[in-house]
Amino acid sequence: MYYKIKYFIRLIIINKLYVNIIMAGFHTKTFIKHDDYMTPKYAWDNIKEYIPKDKVIWEAFYGDGRSGEDLKELGFNVIHEQVDFFENDLGDIIISNPPFTKYKEIMDRLMLIDKPFIMILPSSKINTQNFRKWKDKGLQIIIPRKRIQFIKDGNELQNKCNFDCFYYCYKMNLTNDIVWLE
Ligand SMILES: C[S@@+](CC[C@H](N)C(=O)[O-])C[C@H]1O[C@@H](n2cnc3c(N)ncnc32)[C@H](O)[C@@H]1O
Repeated sequence: MYYKIKYFIRLIIINKLYVNIIMAGFHTKTFIKHDDYMTPKYAWDNIKEYIPKDKVIWEAFYGDGRSGEDLKELGFNVIHEQVDFFENDLGDIIISNPPFTKYKEIMDRLMLIDKPFIMILPSSKINTQNFRKWKDKGLQIIIPRKRIQFIKDGNELQNKCNFDCFYYCYKMNLTNDIVWLE
């Protein structure tokens, strides 16, 4: 009986360890993947009316370079180069889909630069302590009509993206603090 209990307890411990390892791997992989999701052109097309045409846009996070081309095709004057965001300060307005894992440092840097910006970030970020730091800064949000399906390795992840995003806007002078896209 003693050995049976011991065996049972050992089984529970091993099982818990196994689950922890699997989950740790899952979270890490999910994070890494989220840094390399590219923006589909429609995500920029959907907000083009909120971006002034007479300003220079800095698409600050290069990825595969497609995003800058898409913004140019929509009629914007765009700088999109493979430079370190943290070492540069280009253009009049910073518009991008940044690596989500660095969003805290990116927000800090953006606020330091103090230029108008639009950043695509998960909607859940608004609940974080970090965003609370910026609550008096007049941030505004644009809410997409549908979940953005990002592009991975050239393929749009049709219905596979499992999180929603907002366009977080700063000094973009939107007429409403929350804009619901139709
Ligand atoms: C989520 S992807 C989006 C790429 C592109 N902006 C788009 O919308 O398709 C973010 C990209 O930021 C780039 N990145 C990561 N750290 C960076 C940094 N410190 N400076 C500039 N780019 C960086 C990586 O190339 C990564 O693929």
